Amino acid sequence: MSQASAPGYRISEHARLDARNTFGVRARAPMLVEVNDTAALPELFGYAMLRAPDLLILGGGSNLLLAADPPGAVLSLETRTIRPLADDGDTAIVRADAGVIWHDFVLWTLGHGLTGLENLALIPGTVGAAPIQNIGAYGVEVRESVHVVEAFDRKHRGFVRLAASECAFGYRDSLFKHQPERYLVTAVEFRLSRRFRPRLDYAGIPEELRAMGVTDTPRAAQVAEAVIRIRRRKLPDPAVLGNAGSFFKNPIVPTAQAEALLAVNPGMPVFRSAGADRRKLSAAWLIEQCGWKGHRDGDAGVSAQHALVLVNHGQASGQDLLALARRITASVHDRFGVALEPEPRIIGATW
Ligand code: FAD
Ligand code: EPU
Repeated sequence: MSQASAPGYRISEHARLDARNTFGVRARAPMLVEVNDTAALPELFGYAMLRAPDLLILGGGSNLLLAADPPGAVLSLETRTIRPLADDGDTAIVRADAGVIWHDFVLWTLGHGLTGLENLALIPGTVGAAPIQNIGAYGVEVRESVHVVEAFDRKHRGFVRLAASECAFGYRDSLFKHQPERYLVTAVEFRLSRRFRPRLDYAGIPEELRAMGVTDTPRAAQVAEAVIRIRRRKLPDPAVLGNAGSFFKNPIVPTAQAEALLAVNPGMPVFRSAGADRRKLSAAWLIEQCGWKGHRDGDAGVSAQHALVLVNHGQASGQDLLALARRITASVHDRFGVALEPEPRIIGATW
């Protein structure tokens, strides 16, 4: 691997990505550009290799399946500053660079008496990736706290500021997810509250707080701790067993279809969070019913802890994991008539 650096960035050729994707699959980038000062972006995007639409922006690699080597350059933001911009004693606006580790940021907010992100504790990855799929967990989505997304617009080669209302946030969805060739998120400004309003409606949180001995109204740090404890129990740790969290989105179907399925599958979980005429189903439940939980095809498998998590037991390739994902999807479709869609971005193959 050869390397070159200039103020604000460093370039490596033939860079290994094995440790840069949480599935731990083997891959190489023809060129990796690590940027530690976003002021270098206008100059960098003057180069043809970065202007190409196949440039891959890489955060922590925790929502990616590398089914092949990325064909073009890979760019990673290594910017790590957190800066309060305003604070009226009730609400604060805090700006975090894209390269800040998400969980570190959640802990920073709690350490500064700011609330709103506690239910999103321990989600892997970076601040810059959080708006891409509008990360969500335990009844909260990040869009609720996003004030402004700052991005480098690759089309017009300049910085833009997008208000949350302009980001088209939805369940595991945003404007950015649909235009991966356009926006490079450089920082996110969050609106956070000093007055804590606990969000305890997700099944398991009240029980976990009780198990922790918290009987009064919890503090935000205690809710974060409860979420961390549940997550550690439910999800495999990518440092131990390669995975990208939920491999499929929970399917959203018309209410009539959910009711018809429920009539023949009385134990099937159905969630009302998708709006009046639609229902969210549990992809994990559908997959488990088809017998996949704990299944293994060589080193590509389904977690025995959680049916929605595909795992790499060691040497699985991105193609092995993709083949398994396709078999799971086909069997769920055959049995329930429901089409599963992958949550992670797939590089080198179309779904
Ligand atoms: P990457 O995987 O590097 O990238 C993901 C996508 O975002 C790619 O398309 C990439 O090009 C794009 N991207 C990354 N950074 C930028 C940027 N700065 N600008 C523009 N595009 C960018 N997700 C949830 O929502 N909720 C969960 O509860 C959850 N739990 C998880 C648990 C585990 C164990 C794992 C492994 C993953 C989990 N995830 C969860 C998925 C993942 O953590 C999130 O999607 C996270 O936001 C991805 O961050 P990343 O930096 O790793 O992004
Ligand atoms: N279930 C099963 N089998 C399993 C696991 C779960 O049948 O092996 C059923 C149970 O009925 C359970 C229900 O699925 O009650 C929901 O399970 P869980 O609370 O674990 O949530 P999930 O729907 O599987 C979603 C997100 C997670 C997020 C959790 C908590 C998606 C695709 N996934 O999972 O996000 O952490 O809720 O809010 O929406 C991710 O996106 O990568 C991710 C991990």
